[in-house]
Order: sequence, then structure tokens, then C-alpha cells
Amino acid sequence: MDHAEELRHLVSRVEAGIDLLLPPASEPSVRLHEAMRYSMTAGGKRLRPVLVLSASGLFGGARAADPVPAAVAVECVHTYSLVHDDLPCMDNDDLRRGRPTAHRAFDEATAILAGDALLTRAFGILSESYAGDPALAVSLVSELAGAAGSRRLVGGQMEDLLAERSPGAGEDALRFIHLNKTAAMIEASLAMGGLCAGAPEGAVGTLREAGRELGLAFQVVDDILDATADTATLGKTAGKDARAGKATYVSVLGLEAARRVARERSDRAIEALRRLPGDSGFLTWLAEGLVGRTH
Ligand code: IPE
Ligand code: IPE
Ligand code: MG
Ligand code: MG
Ligand code: MG
Repeated sequence: MDHAEELRHLVSRVEAGIDLLLPPASEPSVRLHEAMRYSMTAGGKRLRPVLVLSASGLFGGARAADPVPAAVAVECVHTYSLVHDDLPCMDNDDLRRGRPTAHRAFDEATAILAGDALLTRAFGILSESYAGDPALAVSLVSELAGAAGSRRLVGGQMEDLLAERSPGAGEDALRFIHLNKTAAMIEASLAMGGLCAGAPEGAVGTLREAGRELGLAFQVVDDILDATADTATLGKTAGKDARAGKATYVSVLGLEAARRVARERSDRAIEALRRLPGDSGFLTWLAEGLVGRTH
């Protein structure tokens, strides 16, 4: 299997897991379950769940647990964060993953509730799916809760909003925002893959380090694409960061320096991946592709 085929294979495992682990749309509350599925099945790159599966695949441990539920849990948290990020009181976006945003397709209250329910379901999935190995369940819950909480994802989102139209936002503020709103979940994805495989503590630490660098590179590229790509290719509205007066690497450092930062971060991620056991060829290919991605 070449890397592109492997990626398609991993995405299809994730999507089968999503269908299995989310409540059926026919179950009450039908509207809520429809909205959860609407956002979760809209496509998206599935980067974070693919990182969970591929990190888990690096370790050939006999005690390895199925990483698919952990991957689905990560995608539930990520998707909830997008649903809320798009709300009128936050980034006020109409388009996500090539479709109307959840609050446009449904309404604001339904979008808020669907986000709440996806966040909660993530922890339900972890505790149910890994009940047979309570130590693993606790470590996965703790990893995801840490990444999603006020010190990381939500804190990063808070500072992102506070930095809007704040001309004083410098590189330190920007680094805090990126490290937390984006890199935290990418770190946790790689670490959770390692945890499912029973990887040694040191290797889980290296996975976190790779995820941090990859996550920083990923958000710089997101900022670059917002400034340079078109809405049809992105599947979300282009040019909105400048209109909202967001603090981004493009607004603070300019395009050329932002491109350089993305490349440096991704090189550091690849250097960390090379220190891992097993064949990290697929993960390295994925990391290289993220810098040149078009959406
Ligand atoms: C968008 O994430 C939000 C950021 C952290 C930049 P993705 O670009 O991974 O969005 P999807 O999951 O592919 O839709
Ligand atoms: C959002 O960053 C990161 C999240 C935690 C959702 P952005 O606001 O730049 O993400 P997009 O560009 O809307 O996907
Ligand atoms: Mg935002
Ligand atoms: Mg946004
Ligand atoms: Mg963006």
C-alpha cells in the first residue's frame, strides 16, 4: 500500500467508527442527533483521528487496544470545537467542510447543543470502549480532557478572540494561541495513539513533542491559506481572518516569514518522528504534506 492509499484506508476506518459510535439519527432527540451527524459526516481531512491510528501503528505491542474509538473521540472534540468556533458570537462563519455551518443548516441553539453533545460523547466513547482496561481508559480520558480544557484548546480560543483587533498582539501571544487552540489536540492525538498501543512513557513524550511542532505548523498554514486560498478549495470562507482583525502569523510577521515558520516547525516535527521506534514513513509523509496542503 502506498501512503495515499494508506491514508484513504485509515480515513475509512475512522468514518466507519464515527457511524458506529454516534447515536443513530433516528433516536430522540432526532434533531440533535441529526445535527451531530451533520457536522461529523461532512468530511474534513480527519487529520487528528488519522494521527491516532498511525501513531498506534508504530508500536507492535501485544497488549495494543483498538485505537478507533480513541480516534473517533478526538474527532468528536475537534468537530465540536469547529461548530462552536463558527458561531456568530465567535468567528461567525457560514461555510464549513464545504457545507453550511451547523448554525446555518439548523439554528444557533441546535448548533450549541450539538457541540455540547459531541464533547460529552467523546468521553462516553472512551469510558465505554476501554472499560476492559481501566488504566488505559483513565489515561486516554486524562489526555483528551487536558488538551480540550481551559488550559489548552478552550483557553487558546479565548485568547484568539481577545486578540482580535488588538494591534499589540505579538509573537508570544500568537504562540500561546496556536499552541493551545490547535497544537494541543494534535499532540493529544499522537499521544493517545501511543497510549492505545501501550507505548513506553518516553515514546509518548516524543509523540507529544512531534504533535506540538506539527500543530504549530498546521495552524500557521491555516492562517496562510485563509489569506491566500479561495473559498471553494478551502470549503470554508477565505479571507475572514483579515476582515475580523485576527492576530495571525500572516498579520504579525507577513506571508514570507509565516511560510518560513511553518517549514521550520514541520522540520522539527519530522525530526521528532524519526526518533520513534517503528516505521514512521507514513507519519513523516503526512507531516511533509501538511506544509504544502491546499485546504
Ligand atoms: C480546522 O482544522 C481548525 C484548525 C485548528 C485550523 P482542520 O483544517 O483540520 O479542519 P477539518 O477537520 O479538515 O475540517
Ligand atoms: C480554530 O482556528 C481552531 C479551533 C480550535 C476550532 P480558526 O478559527 O482559524 O479555524 P478555522 O479557520 O475557522 O477552521
Ligand atoms: Mg477561530
Ligand atoms: Mg474560525
Ligand atoms: Mg483559520
